[in-house]
Amino acid sequence: MPAENGKILAVSSVSKRFGGLLALDSVSFEVQRGEIFSVIGPNGAGKTTLFSCLVGTYPPTSGSVRFRGEELKGLRNDQVVARGLVRTHQIVKPFRDMTVADNIRVGVLYGRLRLRGAKARERVDEMLSRTQLGHRAQVKAGVLSIGELKRLEIARALATGPDVLCLDEVMGGLNPAEIQQAMVLVRALRDSGLTILMIEHHVHAVAGLSDRLVVLNFGKKIAEGRPGEALRDPAVVAAYLGDETKEEARA
Ligand SMILES: Nc1ncnc2c1ncn2[C@@H]1O[C@H](COP(=O)(O)OP(=O)(O)O)[C@@H](O)[C@H]1O
Ligand SMILES: [Mg+2]
Repeated sequence: MPAENGKILAVSSVSKRFGGLLALDSVSFEVQRGEIFSVIGPNGAGKTTLFSCLVGTYPPTSGSVRFRGEELKGLRNDQVVARGLVRTHQIVKPFRDMTVADNIRVGVLYGRLRLRGAKARERVDEMLSRTQLGHRAQVKAGVLSIGELKRLEIARALATGPDVLCLDEVMGGLNPAEIQQAMVLVRALRDSGLTILMIEHHVHAVAGLSDRLVVLNFGKKIAEGRPGEALRDPAVVAAYLGDETKEEARA
């Protein structure tokens, strides 16, 4: 566990309704500064919806999201980013006709740091190097491989200067070597002082990286704890690991 402790994010009774569907049903948990905190659960459990409610993509139908004690509910995404909470997208969203470096520059110019000139260039270079995209800096994002696109998604979010980085399935579609590389990156990000929220399907990555996790199923939190305990919970095995085993069998 990190040396500098203390609650950074408090999610309280967050619900999200899409018409007749209750995608999130009164979900509560707290994240400590410096944690790697995972959100897992089968497809459709409400994980991405949870991230969207945290960062102001849309507001929760009810409940509260407090970041360093400040209520975020009602703030727009850019206002949340300016406070230091940012997410990546499960379906990667680069500007495909712009270069990799320019994609990252958008986060540097318009995120929390709003750097200009030499400082902006330095930060773009730093993000390229941290995500091992330096050799791809001047190619259009549209030609990147899925592994590179996932790293660009992280670089763009990181470029904004967050304290809390929410990663939505950044290991999805990667091969085992790339997953290993992504795990090293996530650990390095945490060690550099970030707090990480991570939606992930790869159980060994979740088990290997997470300090704690919550498990969602049909919008409800069904388990919470350290991975060694939570992943063995019978309700989790039934809901999630069964699903994962089936996915691996199909793959
Ligand atoms: N914008 C939306 N409008 C309507 N239904 C949505 C929307 N986003 C997600 N849903 C539904 O909410 C549920 C949870 O989706 P999602 O949060 O994407 O799940 P997960 O990320 O856990 O796979 C699903 O049934 C999905 O179809
Ligand atoms: Mg999702």
